[in-house]
Amino acid sequence: MYWEEKIETMVREDLDALQLARLKRTVQKASESYYYKRVFEENGLNPNNITSLNDVRSIPFTTKEALREHWPYGFLAVPKTDLVRVHSSSGTTGRATAIFHTAADINVWADLVARSMYGAGMRKDDVFQNMMTYGLFTGGLGFHYGAERLGALVIPAGAGNSRRQIQLMKDFETTVIHIIPSYALHLYSLFEELGVNPKTDTRLRLAFIGAEPHSTRTRDKIQELYGVKAFNSYGLSEMNGPGVAFECEVQMGMHIWEDHFLIEVINPDTLEPVPDGEEGELVMTTLMREGMPVLRYRTRDITKIYTEPCPCGRIHRRIERIKGRTDNMMIIKGVNVFPVQIEKTLMNVPGVGTNFQIILEREGYDDIMHIKVEIQKDVFTGNVKQLESLRRRIVDELKNETLVTPKVELVEHNSLPQSEGKAVRVIDNRKD
Ligand code: COA
Ligand code: AMP
Ligand code: ZN
Repeated sequence: MYWEEKIETMVREDLDALQLARLKRTVQKASESYYYKRVFEENGLNPNNITSLNDVRSIPFTTKEALREHWPYGFLAVPKTDLVRVHSSSGTTGRATAIFHTAADINVWADLVARSMYGAGMRKDDVFQNMMTYGLFTGGLGFHYGAERLGALVIPAGAGNSRRQIQLMKDFETTVIHIIPSYALHLYSLFEELGVNPKTDTRLRLAFIGAEPHSTRTRDKIQELYGVKAFNSYGLSEMNGPGVAFECEVQMGMHIWEDHFLIEVINPDTLEPVPDGEEGELVMTTLMREGMPVLRYRTRDITKIYTEPCPCGRIHRRIERIKGRTDNMMIIKGVNVFPVQIEKTLMNVPGVGTNFQIILEREGYDDIMHIKVEIQKDVFTGNVKQLESLRRRIVDELKNETLVTPKVELVEHNSLPQSEGKAVRVIDNRKD
């Protein structure tokens, strides 16, 4: 049922025609939102002038900053009463973006996730354990409803609580998991500690891995340790969340569902398009969202489009695994963190100086966000107990803000390298 053969294997010309019809409708719809109405007016654009797919290029890019500036309702293309769900991404100090969905949007999204899962081999008789954080993150509910749509039995396990994860897998005979790749490796150490072998003591056969960049080596390792086939899953809240691009059984690049998203790859410096096969920043336009259409969204993710057709027969083009970002967003344990969140939080704590440094490290399989914080002179020379309580307060406030528990080290005033202008304060020592 979720092998949508007609859509997945249609000829290119028909797919182009479908995209154009949907693009026209989307642009029309978007022009009813406060944000795009203004953008169109300022740029002398008329939605009726979209007559080819290339015409999308007359519309300015949409950025995360624009979404933030028009928080929360500036992009709505329907009355608020038509909305049924909001998801949000990255940060809480007014830096987050909010994406709103109508019932139809949620429905379409569940179909897309179900289609993705089916393409990777999941079926109705599978038992699916979703180990992502539920709540505002899209990986929880997004996968959840997709799996239910497919008809599988869903265990909404959520993140963390590793012992229970293993217990659930054994008790309910889980066959498919959705898991952040670094956590899959971390969890394996616990399997070893408990003397449970996921290959022989569980029924696992498939893993969907995503939400953070990872190499083919990491994927191979997960496959080997767990005895599963692991599929890369790409998505972002601004484009729903999971179900944007997904590997098929061939496991060579992720099919982007082009009946739902119009894609461009641009040179992030010149903002000009690059041809298929060349690396650049992915730009996407929603084609089916009614509550909050987003046009030409700069994802900041670096990838390239495969030029060869996929042996599976699907026509939807494939993107290569994500290579990195064109901004300074960090992804730690599947959570997006911007350095400015750290900065804002630190600057509100009395006693903290003006400089800090973020060092991302890997201890074993675990990501550590190590933050060195300069402390004002008089505070640093004060009593040790007070210093420790200041350190704890910083840990708590940063955890509150970013959702990740950092390792905080207080250092003397002027002991960190001064960064010029816009501070380059992040050192990423994580290696695969
Ligand atoms: N996914 C799931 N669980 C994770 C995890 C991850 N990426 N990283 C760590 N954990 C587990 C830890 O193993 C620990 O459980 P345990 O002690 O039973 O083993 C527990 O979560 C807390 O770990 P800690 O390292 O102290 O985490 P933290 O406080 O720095 O971060 C998390 C807390 C894990 C809840 C937070 O990082 C998170 O929500 N990550 C997942 C984000 C997500 O779902 N993203 C998808 C976006 S669509
Ligand atoms: P969010 O909006 O919080 O879901 O975060 C989306 C971001 O997570 C994307 O823009 C990517 O940077 C990253 N991401 C999601 N899935 C993957 C993946 N499979 N590989 C690499 N990065 C990913
Ligand atoms: Zn394929």
